[in-house]
Amino acid sequence: MSELSGKKILLGISGGIAAYKSAELLRRLQDQGAEIRVVMTAAACEFITPLTFQALSGHPVAIDLLDTESESAMGHIELARWADAIVIAPATANTLGKLAYGLADDLLSAVCLASTSPLAVAPAMNHVMWSQQATQDNLNSLRQRGVHIFGPDSGHQACGETGEGRLMDTGALVENIKTLFSPPLLDGLKLTITAGPTYEAIDPVRFIGNRSSGKMGYALAQAAQQAGAQVTLISGPTSLPSPHQVKRIDVESAEQMLQASLDTLDDCDIFIATAAVADYRVRQIAEQKIKKSADSLNLELVKNPDILAQVAARADSPFTLGFAAETEKLEEHALNKLQHKQLNMIAANQVGQADSGFNSEYNALQVYWPGGHQALPRNNKHILARQLIQLLAEHYKKEQ
Ligand code: PMT
Repeated sequence: MSELSGKKILLGISGGIAAYKSAELLRRLQDQGAEIRVVMTAAACEFITPLTFQALSGHPVAIDLLDTESESAMGHIELARWADAIVIAPATANTLGKLAYGLADDLLSAVCLASTSPLAVAPAMNHVMWSQQATQDNLNSLRQRGVHIFGPDSGHQACGETGEGRLMDTGALVENIKTLFSPPLLDGLKLTITAGPTYEAIDPVRFIGNRSSGKMGYALAQAAQQAGAQVTLISGPTSLPSPHQVKRIDVESAEQMLQASLDTLDDCDIFIATAAVADYRVRQIAEQKIKKSADSLNLELVKNPDILAQVAARADSPFTLGFAAETEKLEEHALNKLQHKQLNMIAANQVGQADSGFNSEYNALQVYWPGGHQALPRNNKHILARQLIQLLAEHYKKEQ
C-alpha cells in the first residue's frame, strides 16, 4: 500500500504556465490513493480552468477568501484543518514571497498560514526570476521554517529560454510528496556535523582561512533535521543563519572544532565532516599585531589534529561520513581517505572550479563506501543534501 493511501492532500495551484501540469499531478496522487482538494489563486485560473480540477478531484475548487458561501462550508480554517499536507505546485515567485512574509491576502496563502500540517512547495518560474536574490532569500527563509522545497528542475522553459525553474517532473514530485508521510529516515538518531572553514590565528587581527562558506554543511544539517535527526552543527565562522531546530556550536580554530566534536561523541550515532579544516596552524600566535617592518616574514606552521580521523579511530566510533575536496584524481584521493581514515562513507567533490564546490550554491558529489559508489550529479546544495542524507540513511541501517 502506498504512503499516500487515504491521505488528504490540499493541492495549491498558483499562476504560472506550469499550472497545466497540476492536472496530471492530481491524477497521479489519486492513483496512489490520496484524496485531493484544490485551492487555486486568481492568476492560476487564467492559465487553466477550475472546472478541470473540479472534474478530476470530484470537489468544488476553492478560490475566493471572502466568499460567504464557501466560508460557511469549506472555508480557509476548515480547509487548513482538513489537510494532512499542503502541496503548492506550481509555486510562483509571488506565492513564495507571500508565504515567506506570512501574508494572507488570498485563500491559498490564508490556508497555509492557518495550517500546522506539513507544507511543500514546488517552485516554477522563469530562470532569471528563480535566480534573483529576493527569490532565494524567500526560499531560504521558508526552508529554515521547515517548509519542504521540491525542485525546480532545469531545462527548456515556456518563455523560450533554458535554465533552472521548470516544475519538477510529475513522477519525481509524487515520490517527494510521499516522503511527507513516510517515517523520517533518521528518526531519533543523534547526528553531529562540522561545517564551514576554520580560522587559525596569526596575531590578534590576522588568520589563515579558506573559501568554505558553510553552505554544504548547513544544507546537510537542515536535511538531517528534516529527516528526523537531532542535529548538532559545529560551525566555523560563516555568515549563514542557523538551520531550523538545529543546535549550533560556533568555533574558530581546528583545535576548538576538535574539542567541540569530541564533546558530542558520548551520545552520537552519525558524524559528518563537511568542514574545511585548516591542515596547519602557526606554532606561536603573536600577542600583538605583527608590524610590516621586515621585507619578508616567516611563519612556522604545525600540523592540526585530523578531527574526522580521530573520531573514526575511536573504539566507540559513530557512523562516519567524510568529505574529500580535490582538484585532481577525485576517485583515487577519495578512496585513499576512505581507507586511511577508516570511514564508512566519503563524499568527494571537485573544487577549484567555477560555480561548484567552495562558496557556491551548487555542488556535485561522488559518494564512495567500501565496495560501492554512487554519483550525485551537479545540483543545488539543498537538493544534494537531501539525496546524500537518503544514501547515508540506507547505509547506516545496513550496518546496524
Ligand atoms: O562550505 P562550502 O562553501 O559549501 O563548500 C563545501 C566544501 C567544498 C567545503 C565541502 O563540500 C567539502 O569538500 N568539505 C571538506 C573539505 C576538506 O577539508 O576536505 P579534505 O579532503 O581536506 O579533508 C577530508 C576530510 O577530513 C573532510 O571531511 C574534512 O572535514 C576532514 N578533516 C580534514 C582535516 C582536518 N584537520 N580535520 C578533518 O576533520
